[in-house]
Amino acid sequence: MMNYGQSPTKEKNYELITVNYELKQMILPIYTYGQPVLREEAEEIGKDYPGLEQLIKDMYETLERSEGIGLAAPQVGHPIRLAIINLDVISEDMPEYKGYVKTFINPYIEEYDETDMDVSEEGCLSLPGIHEKVKRPKRIRVTYQDEQFQEHDEWVEGYLARVMQHEFDHLDGVVFTDHLKGLRRQLTTSKLQDIRKGKFSCNYKVKVKTH
Ligand code: NI
Repeated sequence: MMNYGQSPTKEKNYELITVNYELKQMILPIYTYGQPVLREEAEEIGKDYPGLEQLIKDMYETLERSEGIGLAAPQVGHPIRLAIINLDVISEDMPEYKGYVKTFINPYIEEYDETDMDVSEEGCLSLPGIHEKVKRPKRIRVTYQDEQFQEHDEWVEGYLARVMQHEFDHLDGVVFTDHLKGLRRQLTTSKLQDIRKGKFSCNYKVKVKTH
């Protein structure tokens, strides 16, 4: 799941193994609706972002324990352009995503193919208890860097394109209920207010906004 890059000498390799061993995974609290970080425009990061390797590792652990398929850094309190997606967990239903576990650094959606739209239900770890159908383009062009900061520029489609749109929206301060229109939008407003006040339950650790 994680890559730490190649090392030129055996000695260095040994050091890397030691460091990896010391990186213990930690479950982070999920910031829920009402937390200002979820409405911020996230900042781009470089290789030198402090604790990046550990943060990514912790995000994977947090995602696994909360049984999610995607997590953006603002959801764990970091206003930075970083997101992870794990579609391997749904590969029993969608075999094409077997082994799909990826980290996205500084991702952007460059193009939306709005000729072909798709409606499907979404949920979000930061919005516990809310599940709504969201209309989104089926195909998008994305650019991002991987964990080795290699650049990628690709068209993606289908369910992955939906998950990417949901996760990368978080990096622009957008949550999926922002896409709802009319009555569905009105009906979620009171649920969102309840989450803001801490009136909800879920089976993972959260950080509710404190007044
Ligand atoms: Ni979300």
